[in-house]
Amino acid sequence: MIDQSNLSTPIVVFASGRGSNFESICESIKNKALHAKVSALIVNVKDCGAIEIAKKYNIPFYIFETNGISRNEHEKLIMTKLKEIQFDWIILAGYMRILSSEFIKKFQQNGFSKIINIHPSLLPSFKGVNGYKQAYEYGSKISGCTIHFVDEECDHGMIISQKSFEIKDTMSLEDVENTGIKIENEFYPITLQNLFHSKWNLQSVSNERSKVVFQ
Ligand code: GRF
Repeated sequence: MIDQSNLSTPIVVFASGRGSNFESICESIKNKALHAKVSALIVNVKDCGAIEIAKKYNIPFYIFETNGISRNEHEKLIMTKLKEIQFDWIILAGYMRILSSEFIKKFQQNGFSKIINIHPSLLPSFKGVNGYKQAYEYGSKISGCTIHFVDEECDHGMIISQKSFEIKDTMSLEDVENTGIKIENEFYPITLQNLFHSKWNLQSVSNERSKVVFQ
């Protein structure tokens, strides 16, 4: 059998903000911890931090601003660009625009989504924006992040991996957010490496529930 663990999986990253997860993916690729290749970065905010990171790592980037156009028109522009790019997966890394069902359906293969997202909470708790803030203000004793397949419901698709941390009584909101993002930055590339290079096995457990199991 051919050992495929060193082959590079081509990905496209979507981002809207500071880009620390995008940077950790790029850095892991550089360090050969993640066997992938970022074919392109797609952003919807023209001056977001992720663009500077793309420049630093010499990655082509494309800006599709959301202002003034419908979701449908916006996604059509992105689709036209994606047709020119070679990739196996779309990796959402702080992409703050909800994708339409039509878009998501285009990237389903064998019942699984080829779009992956990282969310700053232990789903299904604290969906939506500011997951760490929501957990902190609710008085949760734990928080964490979730990496999941993207399905047609927001922050909902099948969970690939989760990492938790304790919210200690002495922690400020800033401490919680800093701890969370640090964990995300470490955990996202590791999870992607496992997903792309077959350490994870997609297994349908029952009609009601599917899950990702370790091989
Ligand atoms: C992260 O907390 C991620 O989980 C969420 O948006 C934030 C993006 O941060 N979806 P960054 O832009 O990767 O630094």
